[in-house]
Amino acid sequence: MADFTPRVFSGIQPSGGLTLGNYLGAMKRFVQMQDAGTHETVYCMVDLHAITAELAAPDKLRSRTRELCAAFIASGIDPEKSILFNQSQVPEHAQLGWIFNCVARMGWMQRMTQWKDKAGKNAQNASLGLFAYPALMAADILIYHATHVPVGEDQKQHLELTRDIAAKFNHDYGVDFFPITEPVIEGVATRVMSLRDGSKKMSKSDPSDMSRINMTDTADDIAKKIRKAKTDPEPLPEALDGLTERPEARNLVNIYAALAEIPAQSVMDQFAGQQFGTFKPALVDLAVDKLGPIGSEMSRLMQDQAEIDRILARGAERAREIAAPVLEQTFEIIGMVR
Ligand code: TRP
Repeated sequence: MADFTPRVFSGIQPSGGLTLGNYLGAMKRFVQMQDAGTHETVYCMVDLHAITAELAAPDKLRSRTRELCAAFIASGIDPEKSILFNQSQVPEHAQLGWIFNCVARMGWMQRMTQWKDKAGKNAQNASLGLFAYPALMAADILIYHATHVPVGEDQKQHLELTRDIAAKFNHDYGVDFFPITEPVIEGVATRVMSLRDGSKKMSKSDPSDMSRINMTDTADDIAKKIRKAKTDPEPLPEALDGLTERPEARNLVNIYAALAEIPAQSVMDQFAGQQFGTFKPALVDLAVDKLGPIGSEMSRLMQDQAEIDRILARGAERAREIAAPVLEQTFEIIGMVR
C-alpha cells in the first residue's frame, strides 16, 4: 500500500441528547488521540447523516449541531489542533458519497444490520438516504484518506464496508488511491450501560431520564441518578471476575475507572469489600468533578453562537484543503472531464 499520512477521522450525529456514553466512548477517546500527537485528527458533526432517519425541525437540527460542537470543545477538542467541522459545510462528502453509491453493490448494502434494524419491517417507507448511509460514511472517511477510525462496536460492519469500497475502487481503476482504513473499536471499559439495566447501552432515546447521565446534567442531577442507579446488595469483590454476573455493578466500576483514567482492577483494589453505600458517593464526587466543568463550558459556549459558527466555518475551510484535492483526483481517476 502507498504511504498514507497517519490520520484519524470520526463523526458523531447531531441528533440531540449527548450522554456520558458519548463522552467516555467517543469524545474522551478523540481527545486522547488528538493529544497523543501521533496522528492528524479530523472530527465531524455528521448532519447529512442525521437527516436519514427523520427530518427534525430546522431550528432543532441547527441547535443540535451547535450543541455538539460545544460538547466537542468542552470535552477538550482543540479546534487548532484538530480539524473540527460540520459535514454539510464540506460539499466533497456528498460528492464522493455519490461516487461510492456507484461502487457499492446492492447486496453489500442490504446486509448492513443497522439498515435492517433501523428500517425495520417498514423498509419500503425508509428513506433512500438511510439505505445509502454507509456509503456516505465511507466517503466521510476516505475523502481524508483517513487511516484510523475510532468507533463503537455497532459501527464495525460499516467500517468493513468502507474497506470493501476502497478495495473495489482501487481494484477497478488499477490504482492504490484509497487507504484500507483500520477500525479502532472501543473496548468494554468505555462502553457505558444504562443505569437502570446493565444489559442495555446508555442511550439518549431510553424513555427514562434516570437511565442516563447527560453531558449537560447539573451536579444535583448527576448525584440523584447515581444514588438511584440499580445495583445489588453484595459488596464489591476483590477481582474483576467477581463482576461478570453483576452487569450493573460492573457498569458503575467501569464508569469510575474511565472517569478516573485508571484500570478497573485498581478500582477493585480500592473498594473491595465495600458496599454501594460507600462506592456510590465516591462515584458521585468523581463524576461531578469531571463532568461539571464540561457541562458549564458547554452552556457558556452555547451563549456565543457567533463564536461557534466562526469555529465551524474555519474548520470547514481546513477540511476542504484536504478534501477538495482528493475529490479532484478521484474525478480524474474515474475519467470525468475537469
Ligand atoms: N455512523 C456513525 C454513528 O452513528 C457516525 C458516522 C458518520 C461516522 N460518518 C462517520 C463515524 C465516519 C465514523 C466515521 O456512530
